[in-house]
Order: sequence, then C-alpha cells, then structure tokens
Amino acid sequence: MDTILILDFGGQTCQLIGRRLREGGVYSEIAPHDDPLTPERLKNVKGIILSGSPYSVYEDGAPKVDPTLLSIGLPLLGICYGFQLITHLRGGKVESLAVKEYGRVALTLKPGNPLFEGVPSGFNSWMSHGDSIATLAPGFEITATSDNHPAAAWDSHQKIWGIQFHPETTHNEFGNQILHNFAFGICGASRDWTLDKVMELESQKIRARVGKRNVLLLISGGVDSTVAGAMLLNILDPAQVHLMYVDTGLMRKNESEEVASILKQLGARHLYLIEAESRFLTALKGLTEPEAKRKAIGDAFIRVQEEEVSKLQLGDYFLAQGTLYTDLIESGKGVGKKAQVIKSHHNVGTPLVEAKRAAGLIVEPLEMLYKDEVRALGEKLGVGESVVWRHPFPGPGLGIRILGEVTREKCDILRDADWIYIAELKKRGLYKEIWQAFSVLLPVRSVGVTGDARDYGYVLALRAVVSKDGMSADVYHFPMKDLLEISSLITNQVMAVGRVTYDISSKPPSTIEWE
Ligand code: XMP
Repeated sequence: MDTILILDFGGQTCQLIGRRLREGGVYSEIAPHDDPLTPERLKNVKGIILSGSPYSVYEDGAPKVDPTLLSIGLPLLGICYGFQLITHLRGGKVESLAVKEYGRVALTLKPGNPLFEGVPSGFNSWMSHGDSIATLAPGFEITATSDNHPAAAWDSHQKIWGIQFHPETTHNEFGNQILHNFAFGICGASRDWTLDKVMELESQKIRARVGKRNVLLLISGGVDSTVAGAMLLNILDPAQVHLMYVDTGLMRKNESEEVASILKQLGARHLYLIEAESRFLTALKGLTEPEAKRKAIGDAFIRVQEEEVSKLQLGDYFLAQGTLYTDLIESGKGVGKKAQVIKSHHNVGTPLVEAKRAAGLIVEPLEMLYKDEVRALGEKLGVGESVVWRHPFPGPGLGIRILGEVTREKCDILRDADWIYIAELKKRGLYKEIWQAFSVLLPVRSVGVTGDARDYGYVLALRAVVSKDGMSADVYHFPMKDLLEISSLITNQVMAVGRVTYDISSKPPSTIEWE
C-alpha cells in the first residue's frame, strides 16, 4: 500500500500530520527521526515528511536524520524544523528570531507551485517557530512569503519542499489541501487507505500468525477492547476467540450486561463473564488512600485473571491487546523515540501480558489505527453507538470515584446517580460534546429536608470536561438549565444523595478524576 513516511522530530503536532493524510485516504506512518532509511523501510514509501520539533538545528541534542535522506530521490516536505533542517544540511542559513512567530500569519503565494494547487494566492497560515530561514540553501526558490520571513521554498530539481507553517493544524487555512497536494499531486500516492483495506491487511497478518491457535482477549467494556473483540470475531473462526470480562463490581450500571450482549450479537462463542465483585470489595475493605485502593484493585485483578485464565486450558494461545497506533508512537517529549506505552491500568505490566510478550504471542488488531478510525471501524462492525462513543473509564472504575472507603452500598448509590446523569446527557444531546463526564461520591454528608423531615444525605459531585487526550482538560460550560434539572432528577430519584455540586476545576492544576 502506498505510504507517506513521517519522520518525527518531536513536534507536538506530528501525529496530526498522519491523521490529516489518512483522512485524505493515504496510509501514513510515523517513524523516529533517525530511523535508518533502508530499502526495506522505504518499501511502498512515495514521499517523506519531516515534522516540526521543539529544537533548534544548532542546539546540542538537536534531532538528526539518516544522512542519505537528501539523496534518496523521493519527494520531501519539511515542515517548520523539517524545513530548517533541510536548509541547514543543504548549506543554507537558519537563525534565531528576535521576535518569535506564533499564531496566524497571512501569506502570499507565488503562483504555479504544485504544493499550492487550488490554494488562493493569499491565505492565513499557522506558525509556531523561534528560528527562521535567513538564507535559502542553494537550488531553492521562495514559493510563499509572510511580512517577515520566507514562509515556503522549493528545489524543483530535487523535488524538495519546505514550509515554515503547520498545515496539519486546523487554524491553518487550506492545510489539508496542501498536505493532500503533496501526497497525491506530487508523490502520486494512491488513495487506498480505507477501513476495508485495514480489515484485509489485519486479517491476513493475524490469520497467518495465529493459524488455528486460540486467541484470548480481556474485555474492559471500553471502545478499544470491544472493537478489538469485534474484529477478532470477524477475521478469525469465532471458535478460536476467547473473550474474558472481569466484573469487578466497580463497573457502571448495566455495563457488564450491555458488553456481554453486544459481544454475543457479534458472534462470541466463548465469552467468560467473571463475577468477582466480592473479591474486589474484600480487597478494598478499610482502605481510604487512593494509591492503596488502586494497588488493591490492580493486585486483585492480576490474581483473578491468573486463576481464571489457567482454568481455560487454551494451549499455546495468543493474547490480544487493544493497543492503538497512538499507543505505539510517542510524540513530543520523546523526540521520536519509539515507546511501547500500554495504557490500560489493568494491562500495565501484568505477569500474563509480560509473559506473552516475551514469548512473542501478542496480537494487536488495532495497532494501525487512530482512535477515530477505531470508532468508525466499530460502527462498521456493528459494535453500536453506546460503546463506540463511550467516554473513557478508568481501570479502577468506581473504586476511585467513591472517595474514601468503597462499599457495595456506596457503589450502588453512585451507579444509580451516574446512570441518571449520563442518560440525561445523552437525551439532551450533550454527551458527544463532552470528553468525559461522571459522578463522584464524596465522603461527606450534608443536611437537607425531604417533605417535613430533616435528612442527612451524601454529597455528589458532577464532573464534565472537554479535552483532546486527557492530558489537559477544560471544564465543560454546562448550560445552567440542564445542570439544575439533572441535579433535581438525581436528588429526587436517589434518596441517599442529598446535595449535588458541579466541579469547576480545569486540569491542570486539578486532575480529571478526583483520586
Ligand atoms: P487524570 O485523573 O489523571 O485522568 O486527569 C486522565 C485520564 O486517565 C484516566 N485515569 C485512569 N485510567 N487507570 C486508568 O486506566 C487509572 O488508574 C486512571 N486514573 C485516571 C481518567 O479517567 C482520564 O480519562
């Protein structure tokens, strides 16, 4: 499949470049900036994009590139640092700006350049740079200017383009057009990246690796593991696919039943629903400190998992993981170093995962996909909107949303209240606007009146945040009318809750979860 290779120099928007290209229908891969550009690596590659970076080309530790890059003969597009690096390597001059350029900058184009096909001669770009090109490298000509600096240049003979701005950001007008001009018009890549193609490639790969052996997948109830399950059921014989779901008793209302019913509809034959509530609640008894609770839940999970998996007698089986493409690449801080980040709390370093990884018996059906592609695939495979668009849910579940000691009674109160909250968000069309919404049961009670009686109910905090990745988050601007109505529904229907508050803290300095 035709590929555009993106070399990651640590720029914060590197992943976005990949997303924009895939949206246009071409497969893109992100690789560390210094990946050796061997014939094997370049197989199917039609062009290479060099990303931005927090570094300056002259700085110690500035990320480098395989020196053969400039003589490979493939079209190259340097974005920001990528442009500066090419300029530097080809004998031009980069210098630090007295006034750094951030934000919207109007550009004027020289007509006729294939990178800007279909883009008007004046448009707003998005800049974020402290260095700039002082002297173009020999062979380059300017193709776009801002008031201050060369904004874009090309070497028509060598098929090298450089742009100082960031077409991958949504603020950059005609950004997609520019990236797609590079991929299709200049590199001649074909538009063959579709979900059908993903299914075909993963099917071939997984079938060839797994053969007739069994595959075990631990289902958490979230989008990724459920879609991974749906995909395995679709590409393998369902008799080979073993799905295990541990009900910790810390799940939301009806969650376990819903996941089970979806997987059955999708053809699951071996679905093991492990009822482990009492083990988890026993492990949590008397614990009030958040990290102690997390550890107790994690340890209980490992024990339950080991016991239950050993009962299955699956032979030399494969373990499937719902790892996404973004979990396998580290952008920003790592300056392109590859890192296996496994995000689910339950999967981090469990002995089972480590043993299977060491034995080379892991399959990751979603490893080529971004989150929105996983959602689209889930819809295509019939996973259903309620799971596909589900907000993230932490591994320790309600265990970290009941502050202080966790008991069955508190879990039930929180489940009932949260059910109302989430159902109302969906009914009012607010759920998809929010990255994550949930309720927290506080370890305080307050006085209220019900009828003529005075009572003493729990305080419930509602949380709703908007975010891109959970790393930072803003408070959702809740319409006051909805908030008041939801509060009244909760206090009227969940008798143990006497008061409802709305959390107005952003991250940072607060975290999304309360514990
Ligand atoms: P915080 O609270 O750190 O949360 O702002 C960021 C995102 O991570 C989720 N989260 C967890 N997920 N195990 C998980 O699997 C955990 O222990 C955990 N703690 C927080 C949180 O729900 C949010 O999406």
